[in-house]
Amino acid sequence: MIVKKLISGFSKLTKDQKLSFIAAQMPNGEHIISELKSFWHQDASVQKMFDEFSENTLTNYFFPYGVAPNVMINGNIMMVPMVIEESSVIAAAANSAKYWAGKGGFHSEILSTVKNGQVHFIWKGDFGRLKELFPQLKDQLLQRTFPITANMQKRGGGVLDMELIDMTSKLQDYYQLSVKFDTRDSMGANFINSCLEEYASGLRAFVNDSGLFEGEPLQVIMSILSNYTPECTVRTWVECDVKDFADIDDSLTAEDFVWKFEKAVQIARVDVHRAATHNKGIFNGVDAVALATGNDFRAIEACGHAWAARDGQYRSLTEIKVEGGRFHYSLTLPIAIGTVGGLTSLHPMARFSLHLLGNPSAPELMQIASVIGLANNFGAIKSLTTKGIQIGHMKMHLLNILNMFNAGESEKLLAVEYFKHHKVSHNAVAGFLSSIRNGHVKN
Ligand code: MEV
Repeated sequence: MIVKKLISGFSKLTKDQKLSFIAAQMPNGEHIISELKSFWHQDASVQKMFDEFSENTLTNYFFPYGVAPNVMINGNIMMVPMVIEESSVIAAAANSAKYWAGKGGFHSEILSTVKNGQVHFIWKGDFGRLKELFPQLKDQLLQRTFPITANMQKRGGGVLDMELIDMTSKLQDYYQLSVKFDTRDSMGANFINSCLEEYASGLRAFVNDSGLFEGEPLQVIMSILSNYTPECTVRTWVECDVKDFADIDDSLTAEDFVWKFEKAVQIARVDVHRAATHNKGIFNGVDAVALATGNDFRAIEACGHAWAARDGQYRSLTEIKVEGGRFHYSLTLPIAIGTVGGLTSLHPMARFSLHLLGNPSAPELMQIASVIGLANNFGAIKSLTTKGIQIGHMKMHLLNILNMFNAGESEKLLAVEYFKHHKVSHNAVAGFLSSIRNGHVKN
């Protein structure tokens, strides 16, 4: 829809007025209103809460909510909730989970849980003197945030450390106050940002108003958490004897499968084109768990991709080792994720997801999300190096194609049976439907 002129005050309209405004500009407006309303929650108070999550809410946008069963993590078997629209992702995670459950499951360990944020400032002053006086400044800054940090400290978290960093080799007059945080089970974005804004005020006052420094004032450019959290990291892996892959594929021996698998991972370690797709497959799983539990998947992805390029070359996030007849496949991933605060406790489905997972701590959820990422990636590489991705993918996509052609339930049953033995494609499904609709029986 192209609107002919700019609108002012749209956000101030009621929801019904917004719907009417949009419907008035589109053909079939009444139908559009009733379709959008059909996705409203039946309980008005729940709908109101959804409306208030965001701005200019018209309705809700549905995604499928599913589970991957049989996910064994450090010996515990879990059913993991996933929210994703791509048809084959949950199936792939579930298949890999079941496969590895028969081989000891996934193993996972937390390497660290430290988050960070920075006050970015520009200053022409005496940085050496500021560093000398830093212990004094630091005390003042910590005092300033005591009202914000007291509760977090009671929960065992808080501000861990802060330092001044000279960034002038990268940008003229640019410095940082870089701060490390432990935000316990919360993702901690609001906590970190509130602390940083307070530190920015304290830093400005210390340099510009105390009489300790001369010259042009220090200019704070911005204060914000970093979504790059290399010290909030989880390592997840699977391992088995190479010979245990004997039954993985009809056309490959265990050794040949492992050789191809290893090459596929090595390719993703050195080629950015493959690495991006390889990592996308990992985030299929990680994001689906993040969404199901009310977490910020954009933050998680941004961090993962930055981490994947940490040595200057964008690489696969997984690593493989085949030695002495053992296969060892691992994923090391920074994930800043929370199990309290934000949407995690407000969104009824996020709450349910956490309940289904046994109300994990944030580190436990880091492990669960990374396990599903590795499960999806293992499933993808296994398919890619054996029968190819499209067979499974298109089989899962079959119902979508049938829905596009408005297939009825009996047509769907016939199609599912027929395509057990035939290759699925858009054309093949169209041909199949037209032949059965014309009274020809296919087999
Ligand atoms: C599709 O969503 C994900 C894959 O492309 C991942 C991969 O190629 O490793 C199958």
